[in-house]
Amino acid sequence: MSSLPFPFPVVAWDEGEIVLIDQTVLPDRLDWRRCSDIPALCRAIVELAVRGAPAIGVAAAHGLAMSWRLATVSGGDTTQMLECLENDRRLLAATRPTAVNLFWALDRVGSLARSLVADGNSADQIGSALLTEARRILDEDVAMCRALGRAGAQLLPDSATVLTHCNAGGLATGGYGTAVGVIYSAREAGKNIRVFADETRPLLQGARLTAWELADQGIDVTVICDSAAATVLRQGRIDAVITGADRIAANGDAANKIGTYPLAVLAARHDVPFYIAAPASTFDPDTATGGEIVIEERDPAEVHRWGEIRVTPEAAAAWNPAFDVTPAELITAFITEHGVLRPAFTESLGPVLAR
Ligand code: MRU
Repeated sequence: MSSLPFPFPVVAWDEGEIVLIDQTVLPDRLDWRRCSDIPALCRAIVELAVRGAPAIGVAAAHGLAMSWRLATVSGGDTTQMLECLENDRRLLAATRPTAVNLFWALDRVGSLARSLVADGNSADQIGSALLTEARRILDEDVAMCRALGRAGAQLLPDSATVLTHCNAGGLATGGYGTAVGVIYSAREAGKNIRVFADETRPLLQGARLTAWELADQGIDVTVICDSAAATVLRQGRIDAVITGADRIAANGDAANKIGTYPLAVLAARHDVPFYIAAPASTFDPDTATGGEIVIEERDPAEVHRWGEIRVTPEAAAAWNPAFDVTPAELITAFITEHGVLRPAFTESLGPVLAR
């Protein structure tokens, strides 16, 4: 029985403030984080209260609408307000480097603000246009995820077991999901889908979030340790591996949660298709290859600790890259709102790189 409306209300606007499902405390409890200024929203993004590439973009877009509203309260002319917005845009852009959706959404709302100011619109007119744009980004994301979900569902047999990594579900997007959206769409199409979810060390997005939302939606989900993926693939229990992505380069190299690349290697070894599901906002025409993608490195404390307990000796160092890059040649196809795009990606990615 679902505890939330679906698509999930991951990012909402309430009287000038941004309300987020607090993903740091799931599945222990379903709680909300209210952000009433930009530093609070930046903290929510850095701490992964809101996370997942499309959801970060949606949250940041709403952040710029909030920034403008706060500047309106402080007073000043629209050119001065634009300077405040630009400052907040920089703060939001500095939160996480890898997911291109963040920069895409900030550019989209920021350039709208610049053109509305240049055209002489009033502060109130600009404020309502920026909020409308942020809401449009959210609604478009849900629509893109539903469309890519339908395209991806057709790749799965009537009864299928899917292996996924991290959380590329409703919680990571405007509410419907990319990789997990394919699973929802397959179920909506009457297919019988079972899911293995990698736990996804160190922050357990698979165990905590993917398992929570699939169970919430009544889908059969089994959590495995990341190191068990090879075994389920070798046992022939997986029909397809499907993950999301944070940034996809023009040649098809794709950055996603650390541990995705080894899954792609394993899928190739066991002759299982490896799909990446992503909307156009995750494809980056300005990044030629995966080697150019900036990989976020997070606090080693996330590796040293299991919850409150330190699991490494004090003398040990830890390294905590948050993402890895899967080379294009290991990707069977991209599942997008423009359909299923297969190699050669330098040709087939045209519609999603055109933006
Ligand atoms: O660090 P996170 O939790 O933001 O990482 C999220 C992922 O890696 C997702 O797979 C990716 O953003 C795609 S979400 C549709």
